[in-house]
Formats: sequence, C-alpha cells, structure tokens
Amino acid sequence: MKVIIKKTTDEMSLAGAKIFAELICKKPNCILGLATGGTPVGLYKELIKMHKQDGLDFSKVTTFNLDEYLGLDGDHDQSYRYFMNDNLFNHVNIKKENTYVLNGVAADPQLFCDGYEMLIKAIGGIDLQLLGIGGNGHIAFNEPGSPRSSRTRIVDLTPETIAANSDGRFFSDPKDVPTQALSMGMATILDAKEILLIANKESKADAIVKTVEGPATEDVPASLLQAHSNTTVIIDEAAAAKLTKEYA
Ligand code: GLP
Repeated sequence: MKVIIKKTTDEMSLAGAKIFAELICKKPNCILGLATGGTPVGLYKELIKMHKQDGLDFSKVTTFNLDEYLGLDGDHDQSYRYFMNDNLFNHVNIKKENTYVLNGVAADPQLFCDGYEMLIKAIGGIDLQLLGIGGNGHIAFNEPGSPRSSRTRIVDLTPETIAANSDGRFFSDPKDVPTQALSMGMATILDAKEILLIANKESKADAIVKTVEGPATEDVPASLLQAHSNTTVIIDEAAAAKLTKEYA
C-alpha cells in the first residue's frame, strides 16, 4: 500500500482527481469504479473543473458504482444513482448509457448483481477503483466480517453505518435509511487493476490506522487491500492522526 498524507481535504481531493485524470488521458476508454459518500465529492468537483477548463474527455469512459440502497429507485434523491448524476455525470461529457449503478429496485436483485459481475468481467475489468471508508473500516457496503471471496450481492447494513448516513448529511432520520443494500463484494473490489482509497477527517483515523498498519482481517474490510498489488491511500492529516509510521 502506498500512503500519501496531504495537509487538507482539498489537497487530498486534487491529488486523487489527478490520478483519475492521468488515466483518462492515457486510456480514454478506461473503466472506472466509482464511490459515493461525502468523501469523494471534492474529487468529483476537481474532475468537473478539469473537464470544463482543460477539456478532460469522458466521452469514451465507462463507470461502475460500488453500491446502491436496496429499495431505492434511481430517482430517489438519496439513491446512489441520483448522487452520481448530481455530483459528476450531469456535469461532464460521459454517456449516461456507459454509467452503471446497481439497480435498487430490480425485480430479482441477486440476479441483477450476478449480471453486474458478468458485465464487469466481459468489459475487461475495472482499471481504477475509487473507495471511501466507513468508520468501522467498511468499503462499499462490505461491513466487518464480509468474506474476502464475496461478490456483488445483497448485504445488511450495520446500525453504525445507518447512523453515519443519517447524521444530517444524507438521510435526516435513521428510520428512512434502507437496512439493506446491493454491494460489490471484496473479491470484486480486489480484482480492480488499481485502487485509490481516500479518507479525511478525524472520524476516519481509527479505521485508517487499522487499514494501513493493522493485521489484514475480514473484521476490518479495508485492511484486505494490503494484499492488493497496486493500492494507493490518500488521506488528510486528520485521518492520518493515529498512524505510527513515517509516510510521504
Ligand atoms: C457509505 C458508502 C461507502 C462510503 C462510506 C463513507 O457507507 N457505501 O462507499 O465509503 O459511506 O462515507 P463518507 O465518505 O460519507 O464518510
């Protein structure tokens, strides 16, 4: 794992966006894995700026999102499809038909998940996967205990994750948060050729020290990234506060 510590959240976002922009320039038809949550919003803003100011071209890019709430239609303002349209897709020249997000209202959700896996494989796999991290070390919606071998599937959300997503930023009432989601699995994520995990704020410091310096264990899903050959972690100083070793 390569760990890069930036002074501020803005610097973290810019450094992450540059990794995406470099790939898009080098491989215009790249396959990107994308994430939701508060953390990647700044990175998406930088990509939008690069598109508007420097002509960063998304016309041949394909994207796959990590997860979606079970039961939410893409028009629901808390769905991850809505989030992606709002925070990135509507502002760049990506073709909407090349943006894949799991369908939270699929008639047969598990069949939909199996098809998603097949599509990712058929298209050649994800070139660069963006990840945020939950306070308990979850990535996508792979909660602690998620098997290393897991693939896209229906998952239960922990009370901790439900609380984190209803703290006023997203849902206003925990009762409104779906209790299940569709999520790429750990094996799906680890298949990506390159992975970029970003984290900011003190509330992520515990999860980050366990991810980077703790043992690789399914109890801290993000720590399984230690076994991936091309993973970069970019964090701000607050999220790096509990690290004990020296990093760049
Ligand atoms: C949700 C998402 C994750 C995200 C996490 C952290 O659980 N499914 O993909 O990494 O929240 O979100 P935030 O960036 O808002 O802290």
